[in-house]
Amino acid sequence: MKTKKAIIFDLDGVIVDTAKYHYLAWRKIANDLGFDFSKAENEHLKGVSRVKSLEFLLKKGNITLTEKEKNKLLVSKNEHYLSLISHMDESELLDGIKTLLPALHQENIPFALGSASKNARRILDSLQLSPLFTAIVDGTDVTKAKPDPEVFVIAARRMCYAPKNCIVIEDSKAGIEAANSVGMTSIGIGNDQVLQAADYVLDSTRQLTLAFIKNLL
Ligand code: BG6
Ligand code: MG
Repeated sequence: MKTKKAIIFDLDGVIVDTAKYHYLAWRKIANDLGFDFSKAENEHLKGVSRVKSLEFLLKKGNITLTEKEKNKLLVSKNEHYLSLISHMDESELLDGIKTLLPALHQENIPFALGSASKNARRILDSLQLSPLFTAIVDGTDVTKAKPDPEVFVIAARRMCYAPKNCIVIEDSKAGIEAANSVGMTSIGIGNDQVLQAADYVLDSTRQLTLAFIKNLL
């Protein structure tokens, strides 16, 4: 049975608790460049591509670099990030996700991944979650970063659903903006001040139950 709506999940900060590792890796880059980078400032990087994140950081530090130097920092940030997540296991899944994804699958409710991360497939594979997804769209599939809706539009198309029939679950301002711009229903996970543009805001994935989702379908 085809449900009226399909779901698109962001990865970092929605499925896995990796947002903190992205932050730690960027903070190290900032510290190495001689300035600090706060958790509040990091909100601007959530959902934002690696390249755009570096641009934000360099602007904040008032630093100009050559393309070669920037590429070196991008590689270094990713190496540090990968080392931080190298021992990642199911304990890093956010509350309720471990049971929610198989339950959606069991109920034949289609869901896709719509992530800016180029490490997304590696993370889903390592947690053995990939087979549950109807489609996986990540940073390697897009040319435009969130708040551009490209990643979600591709995910909707791959599931054969119109954008207005998709529900996006996101922890970032950029992601909520992206979803709203193409008429998708948006669910923000986190601070309602930051995510105030979302159709629904939940404090944590603990509230993202099968019953809550089914009510929106
Ligand atoms: C997003 C994260 O999901 O992916 C951002 O919220 C991150 O913090 C972006 O910068 C790109 O990730 P990666 O793994 O390709 O560096
Ligand atoms: Mg996220």
